[in-house]
Amino acid sequence: MPKPRSTGKFRRAKLRHKLFTLGPDFLLRGRLRERHLKNEIALRHFDVHLPNWRNELGTLRIGHLSDLHFGDLMPSERVEQIVDALRDRDLDLIAFTGDAVDLEWRGIEQFFDLLVSVPTTLGHVMVLGNHDHLDDPDAVVEAARARGIIVLMDEVVTIERPGHGSIRVGGVDWTKRLQECSERIAMISEQLSEEDRPVDVLLSHNPKGFIEATRQCIPLTLAGHTHGGQVALKGRPDRNLAVAHRLSAGFYEREGSALFVTTGVGSWFPLRVHCPPEVVILDVSKGEWVEPDPDAHSAIQP
Ligand SMILES: [Fe+2]
Repeated sequence: MPKPRSTGKFRRAKLRHKLFTLGPDFLLRGRLRERHLKNEIALRHFDVHLPNWRNELGTLRIGHLSDLHFGDLMPSERVEQIVDALRDRDLDLIAFTGDAVDLEWRGIEQFFDLLVSVPTTLGHVMVLGNHDHLDDPDAVVEAARARGIIVLMDEVVTIERPGHGSIRVGGVDWTKRLQECSERIAMISEQLSEEDRPVDVLLSHNPKGFIEATRQCIPLTLAGHTHGGQVALKGRPDRNLAVAHRLSAGFYEREGSALFVTTGVGSWFPLRVHCPPEVVILDVSKGEWVEPDPDAHSAIQP
């Protein structure tokens, strides 16, 4: 079994990084990266009412982060600003939906240390993204678990919620293909007894997980991966460069199940236009579906 970092995928990702980030930044004498890191990070807060949400769970406050891409475009100081945005928010759960690292995993311990330093009533859960698989996915998982983060690799965790029964959070490991993603989500469900299905919240780096989540009436799926294309039309986050993704940014609802695709906090090339990096807080409760509007929207100053 070759070491993950020797794979073609890792080498191609490094080449892309040279072509789209290091090369242009070198030609512009560091100004490209410098300007990119001055981009404000949006802090968005949504009230999400879900028809399939179980009444007994009450309101659950989730801090949702995704696509950190720790590396050249995500230095340590920015990681700190991002995680600090979730502090003192009375969170029940922090959900990280993958791509903690950009290329090399070393150094990611700082992010996990910071993440678990934010208190929550129910804990910290995460799944891996495609970039986490490039270098050494086992090392990423180990570093997270060593700090108490629940890494969901095609599995479900049931967390007691005093006064509100228990919440079931499922998570699917990265896969690009729709069919494999769907099969794995179905497998997660089979880990629960029939009366305990479906999971309440599903984490899937790939938004395609929503297709199977809808079939299973999973109330809420959280995803990332697309970065919202990083470039979008003004005022139209859904019209963006992520043309290969039908589910590319924001909320989607089908038959009582909802998906939220965050545009993520990091980047894989140093440009974002009308698509700011974002940290998200979701107040989830039972109710009739209405497309959520951010009821609070502020910026984290770099
Ligand atoms: Fe990503």
